Amino acid sequence: MESPFKANILKGKVALLTGGGSGIGFEISTQFGKHGASVAIMGRRKSVLDSAVSALHSLGIPAIGLEGDVRKLEDAQRVVAATVKHFGKLDILVNAAAGNFLVSAEDLSPNGFKTVMDIDSVGTFTMCHEALKYLKKDGPGRSSSSGGFILNISATLHYTASWYQIHVSAAKAAVDALTRNLALEWGTDYEIRVNGIAPGPIGDTTGMRKLVPQEINSKARDYMPLYKLGEKWDIAMAALYLASDAGKYINGTTLIVDGGLWLSQPRD
Ligand code: HXC
Repeated sequence: MESPFKANILKGKVALLTGGGSGIGFEISTQFGKHGASVAIMGRRKSVLDSAVSALHSLGIPAIGLEGDVRKLEDAQRVVAATVKHFGKLDILVNAAAGNFLVSAEDLSPNGFKTVMDIDSVGTFTMCHEALKYLKKDGPGRSSSSGGFILNISATLHYTASWYQIHVSAAKAAVDALTRNLALEWGTDYEIRVNGIAPGPIGDTTGMRKLVPQEINSKARDYMPLYKLGEKWDIAMAALYLASDAGKYINGTTLIVDGGLWLSQPRD
């Protein structure tokens, strides 16, 4: 689908996306690139990074892939530094890396719980912390009148409670807290905006493949306000809105992009 935004709204910006090589992260990488940004994508799997980078290059988007695991501090440090070394600065950090699996609380080991907390929550904090010095208004290579921008990909499942998702619910609740607290501290001190997006069920993603059996998928249509799954495009458009100047007064919020689904319930 064609973008409703002008192609230059992120012109000259440099974005680093964790989990940027696949799923929602890759669609955000692509749309940021199509709207003028240079893109560094971080991920654990070289083959995924390689094919993502060639897809971006084929669209004429300046892009590099950087192998790394957000759970490792040294990887975070190396990847942030390599992004700045390659593109000269950093304007935007997107935390899209996440881990997930369905398991009852009873069957989830403490290490399984910790694994998802480490990827989603601690990983997000680590990346933000490492990126901070580059995102400041006067960060290396930046000559902007405002600080940079951080986008954290969250979820809606912790607004109520979700079966077999205690680890992810806890992790995404922590991500939302990071979004608000960093927006307060870094917005005040450095004019860095920190926002989140909470996607609903998005078609053709690992999350949907892992978490939503086909049969629930079709039943949900009976009570979904917009009667359909979202597309990765919907999340990327929201990300563009928040990252661009259109969102310059938005800070500390997590934008729900789910067609109203989290509000809904079966009719009877
Ligand atoms: C129960 C499990 C499990 C499962 C792993 N564990 N999978 N427990 N059921 N299906 C437990 C293990 O037993 C182990 O605990 C601990 O978790 C670590 O497992 P590892 O396999 O060593 O972890 P690792 O290889 O690091 O893999 C991380 C992962 C994996 C999260 C388990 O799925 C992954 O890498 N995922 C990344 C991609 C992904 O899932 N993306 C989807 C994002 S979708 P013990 O105690 O045995 O040592 C998304 C949507 C959220 O985030 C919103 C939804 C609405």
